[in-house]
Amino acid sequence: MPRSTEPATVLPLARPPEHIPAGALATVRRKAKRCHDCPLWMHATQTVFGVGPAHAQVMLIGEQPGAQEDLQGEPFVGPAGRVLDKALAQAGLSREAIYLTNTVKHFKFEPRGKARLHKRANAAEQAACRQWLAAELLKVKPRLLVAMGAMAAQALFGARFRITQQRGQWLPLAAGAQGIATWHPSYVLRARDDESRERIYAELAQDLSLVAARLAAG
Ligand code: URA
Repeated sequence: MPRSTEPATVLPLARPPEHIPAGALATVRRKAKRCHDCPLWMHATQTVFGVGPAHAQVMLIGEQPGAQEDLQGEPFVGPAGRVLDKALAQAGLSREAIYLTNTVKHFKFEPRGKARLHKRANAAEQAACRQWLAAELLKVKPRLLVAMGAMAAQALFGARFRITQQRGQWLPLAAGAQGIATWHPSYVLRARDDESRERIYAELAQDLSLVAARLAAG
């Protein structure tokens, strides 16, 4: 049976997917629950789709769910989520007003004893998942897009984007959107010492303040 696909539309993505699942956001969310388009669904507990207001002005895009997100079915509810919540509050942004999602919607891991160690989704898995982010962008139509981490930044701005050099800068995107990249909250947690941790966190919070300022400016 042919897939139902939204008509080709200008999307704020570097490489839009071939198919964009059709229907309202709730329909797309239901379809994503059954996605078998790459092997990640086999070992994950569930699809972790985005959450937030259906017409949020700001969309925050992470990389992929972690172990807690996999169990609870919501993005950023684990340790990285706690860093994000603190930085959002410091920047004066309300999590409830933001649509929060990930580039890849399934947890990928390597079992190590009882632990499940995070593993980065490969290029094919990221490409297979792009349809869901595309559908979220198409339905929510955010005006401001925030990519957290290199995977999300490259999905928006292309493979040549370097987060180490280009974070904290607004860039125009298709469909009249504006995008900015910042550090991933997990990068704060992985910092090698306290000094780097404080610097990375301060830069994340500062980048989110730019989002708050642009949102307030209308
Ligand atoms: N890291 C992400 O990129 N997304 C989550 O939802 C949690 C951790």
